[in-house]
Amino acid sequence: MKINSGPILDVRNLGKTYGGVRAVNDVSFQVNKGEIVGIIGPNGAGKTTTFNVIAGAEKPSGGEVFLEGANVTARSTEQLYHLGLARTFQLSHEYPKMTALENLMVASKSQHGENIFMNWLYPKLVNEREADVVQKASETLEFLGLKHVVHELAGNLSGGQKKLLELGRTMMADAKLILLDEPGAGVNPTLMQKIGDMITDLNENRGYTFCLIEHDMQLIERLCHRIIVLVEGRILLEGSMDDVRNNSQVVDAYFGSSDA
Ligand SMILES: Nc1ncnc2c1ncn2[C@@H]1O[C@H](COP(=O)(O)OP(=O)(O)OP(=O)(O)O)[C@@H](O)[C@H]1O
Ligand SMILES: [Mg+2]
Repeated sequence: MKINSGPILDVRNLGKTYGGVRAVNDVSFQVNKGEIVGIIGPNGAGKTTTFNVIAGAEKPSGGEVFLEGANVTARSTEQLYHLGLARTFQLSHEYPKMTALENLMVASKSQHGENIFMNWLYPKLVNEREADVVQKASETLEFLGLKHVVHELAGNLSGGQKKLLELGRTMMADAKLILLDEPGAGVNPTLMQKIGDMITDLNENRGYTFCLIEHDMQLIERLCHRIIVLVEGRILLEGSMDDVRNNSQVVDAYFGSSDA
C-alpha cells in the first residue's frame, strides 16, 4: 500500500488575474489529512477565486495545485471530483426540479444508472447500484436532518436546507478533501450551530478533511485548526484565531487602517 504522509492539498504560488485585477496573487498553502483549515478575509479578497482555481472551475494564471502529491493543476472539476475533491458553492447549486433525494443521487460517483448502455446491458447490476445510491442518499439526508423533505423538490427548500443539501452532495462523493464556500451564509443561528456540529462530526468521526471559507468568525473559531487570512489576493497571515485577533493588519484589512 502506498503510504503518503504529505499534505492532501498543496497549493503553490497560485495566481489568477482577470484583466488588470489580480484576484489571487502568489498564494501558497497546504491542508493536511484530518485538518479543518479556515480561509477568511474581506469581500473581494480572492477566497472564492482560490477555490474556483483549486477545484478546476477556473484556469490559474500561474502556480500549481497538488492533490495527495499528484499535480492536478487545471484538471476539470469532474476529474478532480473523481480524485476525491468536492466543493460547495457560496450560492447553493441545487437542481430545483429534482427532489432532495435525486439531487444527492446524481452527485454520487457510483451513479451508473445514467449510462444508457450500462442500463441496457446490465439492468440488474444497475438496479443494485441504484439501490445502493438510494440508500446512501437517504442516509445522508437523515444525517443532515432532512429526512422529512426527501421527496420535496429542491427548489422548494429553504435557504438553510439548500445549504445542507450542498454539504450532502459532498458526502455522496467519498471525498478526501471538501472545500466549503461559506456554509453558514444566509443560515439562521440554530441551523448554523447544526452545520457546525455536522462538520465537526464528519471531521472527527468520519475522517473528512475540510478547507472552508466563512465570514462568521464564531464558526471559524469553533471549527478550524488553522486559519489563513487572505487580503487583496495575498496571504496576510496563517495561524491560530489568537494570531488573527492580535494582528493589527488583519483588523485594518477588515475595517480600514486608522492612519489611512
Ligand atoms: N469572473 C470574474 N471576472 C472578473 N473579476 C472577477 C471574477 N471573479 C472574481 N473577480 C474579482 O476577483 C476578486 C476576488 O473575488 P472573489 O469572489 O474571489 O472574492 P471573495 O474573497 O470570495 O469575496 P466574498 O467574501 O465577497 O465572497 C474581486 O475583485 C472580484 O471582483
Ligand atoms: Mg466568495
